[in-house]
Amino acid sequence: MGNIVIVGAQWGDEGKGKIVDLLTEKVDCVVRFQGGNNAGHTLVVDGQKTVLHLVPSGILHAHVTCLIGNGVVLDPEVLLQEIELLAHRGLLTNASRLRISDAAHVIMPFHKQLDRLREEKMGAGKIGTTGRGIGPCYEDKIGRRGIRLGELLYPDDLKEKLQGLINYYNELLPALYKSEKIDFATVYDQALSWGERLKPYIENTSVLIGKLMKQNKMLLFEGAQGTSLDIDHGTFPFVTSSNTVAGGACSGAGVGPTAIESVLGITKAYATRVGSGPFPSELFDEVGQGLQVRGKEFGATTGRPRRCGWLDLVALRHATRVNGLTGLIMTKIDVLSGVDTIKLVTHYECDGERLEDMPTHPKLLERCKPVFEEIEGWKNDITSVRKFADLPTSCQAYVRHVEKSIGVPLMLLSVGPERGQDIWLQKF
Ligand code: GDP
Ligand code: IMO
Ligand code: MG
Repeated sequence: MGNIVIVGAQWGDEGKGKIVDLLTEKVDCVVRFQGGNNAGHTLVVDGQKTVLHLVPSGILHAHVTCLIGNGVVLDPEVLLQEIELLAHRGLLTNASRLRISDAAHVIMPFHKQLDRLREEKMGAGKIGTTGRGIGPCYEDKIGRRGIRLGELLYPDDLKEKLQGLINYYNELLPALYKSEKIDFATVYDQALSWGERLKPYIENTSVLIGKLMKQNKMLLFEGAQGTSLDIDHGTFPFVTSSNTVAGGACSGAGVGPTAIESVLGITKAYATRVGSGPFPSELFDEVGQGLQVRGKEFGATTGRPRRCGWLDLVALRHATRVNGLTGLIMTKIDVLSGVDTIKLVTHYECDGERLEDMPTHPKLLERCKPVFEEIEGWKNDITSVRKFADLPTSCQAYVRHVEKSIGVPLMLLSVGPERGQDIWLQKF
């Protein structure tokens, strides 16, 4: 089997962590390629919950190498805490298990400050970011001012570069937000200490991936966030600041598209979204509240309640196209048990027109009215079911209907948060 990319097909939190952990059994290396600690990927093994924000979700398997690629933005404090926690649990005893790209950009304290100040100033129109400095860090990357992880290892060069960046922020922040000036020496000392502590992990990970591929090692590229949060293909401007789609794996890890054989999209059996922005299938009633409670829909990073709604086939078809999905994985179908009638968005109606595809213009998407079809629900608890044929008939019908509407084979169904609560539909 060739290399796999796993992406979220919705607005994030689809259960990527759980699925990556599961599929890691079959691979040699897991690579994060974009985003930062805005991500929260949950793994549950023998009742023990692990939430990872930066370290790839393959880390619980001792045989794999975990890589953080150049496309990721790194908050060194968070990364060091995560490393410490994993080391304490005996999961990261050797730096060779975690390799971090020297070209990944560093989230500085002033990136977090700007993220929060900007959101406060936007008031009701805010994006609802995680406040982790993701947007400002990517802005500095694209603006060609940012600091890369490898630069922390060269104190003299860093001094000059960081001074320039801090001068820029010392003009920007007091002028726009009346905030106090940043003290260069404090940040510089902090940055040098991060470099010292992270040195054993820093490497050119693109070169390493090239070597692993020559040895026919199998790689899994782990996406963060989801397709509808993609900077280009999501519900702009209510998106994150990276390319969350499968193509991002190439630029964010330093491999060519020919390295990738399959692209698996993860979708919940319903939909959720954290933060602001259009969500056509959102529920505001007790059915939505039921999904939120049963699905424990509270953010793994910020603890914010997730907005809940029905599965949106328009958004899912969009995800299928922009990612080139070769397979679909559906999670949290157990959460739908007990819902009398399940709804699915088939298309939108907007200004009297039928829309089969998500409109690009944000105001148009806000005005879209979802058009639903209805499918009979089921009552039974399905969390212990391990064979598709043992699922209630209406549950089977729901799954097959989604598969047919999307036109991509369903590989796997997840029926609970624990490792092993899965139903395989296709062999890998
Ligand atoms: P990620 O960001 O895509 O990795 O997803 P999160 O970890 O943020 O959120 C998914 C949540 O759903 C986590 O709490 C998981 O433990 C949980 N989860 C994953 N798959 C299932 C499932 O099939 N059923 C249920 N009930 N929970 C699941
Ligand atoms: P995982 O990997 C869900 C959302 C935020 C906000 C928008 C922009 O766990 O699926 P940012 O801080 O990135 O600038 O915020 O994106 N967001 C996520 N929502 N899951 C995530 O990650 C998210 N990462 C960012 O809520 O709406
Ligand atoms: Mg998450």
